[in-house]
This record gives sequence, structure tokens and C-alpha cells, in this order.
Amino acid sequence: MDFRTDVHCHILPGVDDGFRSEDNSVKALGLLRETGLEHSILTPHIYPELYPDNNPESIRNRYAEVSGRLSSSGVECKVSGEHMVYQGIEDHFRKGQTSGLLLLPGDNILIEMSYAFESQNIREFVFQLNAMGLHPVLAHPERYSYYSRTMIEVESIVDIDTRLQLNVLSLGGFYGNTAKVKAEMMLDAGLYTFLGTDLHSLSQIEQLRSLKFEKKIARALEPLLENNDRLWNGNI
Ligand SMILES: [Fe+2]
Repeated sequence: MDFRTDVHCHILPGVDDGFRSEDNSVKALGLLRETGLEHSILTPHIYPELYPDNNPESIRNRYAEVSGRLSSSGVECKVSGEHMVYQGIEDHFRKGQTSGLLLLPGDNILIEMSYAFESQNIREFVFQLNAMGLHPVLAHPERYSYYSRTMIEVESIVDIDTRLQLNVLSLGGFYGNTAKVKAEMMLDAGLYTFLGTDLHSLSQIEQLRSLKFEKKIARALEPLLENNDRLWNGNI
């Protein structure tokens, strides 16, 4: 697989439930470089309830501290964030105030929800982001247990201009069989735009390396990988 650009990972060390040490982050990027990765967008969780110290400024500062060592791995990095859609998040997003946000390139923004409950305000929030000229990218919808296997609920979110990002490990069954089945169905239906690793630890690199896909799935992933490259350059 030509996985040149990762659009979602927790490799920025010491800020969330992802990588803890700088050494392991550099090691992970080095291992990914060996598999062909050239670019990685680092997306720590932004969720005040769980990570009260994480905000755009603190994350940018942390990135500035480690960016030199991370890039020594040979993988070029950019910093962004994965925004939990919590009650009241709307107040932090106001029209004309995007400069303080941690966006993906091209005015895209990575958002997520709890695995157990759909955010009550997801549709209103997506609508608000759209009104601000932003493109929401919903992370790993296949992992949300409250969506039925038909994923009809997701289609209603896609209809209001949301792009979907598949976790590549979902296809390997690493989050359970239900997530795998949903991922395959949504991939087949052409619902995904991007592919991410959502990498949290070194051990997941072994899982990534063990992935093997049928031809049909590998073909369906190709446009996602191209979209990833376009996202890196802000062209999507
Ligand atoms: Fe994530």
C-alpha cells in the first residue's frame, strides 16, 4: 500500500493517551518511514474534560519543542488536533476566528465523538463549521457503536458536508468484528475520504505491518491515499 501521508495519529509525545516519550515517537516515525510514509499530521486529542492542559497554544508549543527530533526520522510532520464534539464546543468556534484553531490543511478540521454516545450537537456543530467555511472530517465512524450496520445515520451527516476518515486498523479487525464489517461496508459504498492510522503506541505498528488486504479493498483504498496526499498540500 502506498501510504505516504498519515492524517491522524497521536505521535506528539506527552500530551494525550498516545505516545509518552519523545524517543518512542521518533522510533515510530522511523519505522513508518521504512514502510514508505513521508508525511504525518499529528492530531492530539482536544477535549477539555479529559485533557484540560491541551489547547491550540499548548499543543503548538509542545510541537515546537520536539519538531526537530521528530523530523530527524525522515518523516515530515505538521501539527493539528482531533476535536471531541462536546456540549458547549460551539462557544469556542466563532466566525472569523479560525487562526487560533488547530486545523488540518485546506481548512479541514478533524472531529470525533465518544464511542458510546453520539454527540447531541453533532449536526448543529457541523453546520456551524460549514458556515465558518471549514470542512469537518469525522474520525473513524466505523467505531461508533450507536451507528447501525447500515450506517444510515452517517449518511445523514455526510449529507451536511462532512468528510469521513477510516482507521486502517479497523479493516484488520483490531477494534472488533463489528467495526471491521462497518468499515468494509462504508468503504464499499464510497463513503470515506481519508485514511488514518490513529496510532497511539509502538505496538500498533506491528498490527499495521501485519495488515493484508484483498485486492478489492486495496483498490478501494487508493483514492483515499491520494486524498491524504492532497490534504497534506491543502488541496482538498
Ligand atoms: Fe485519534
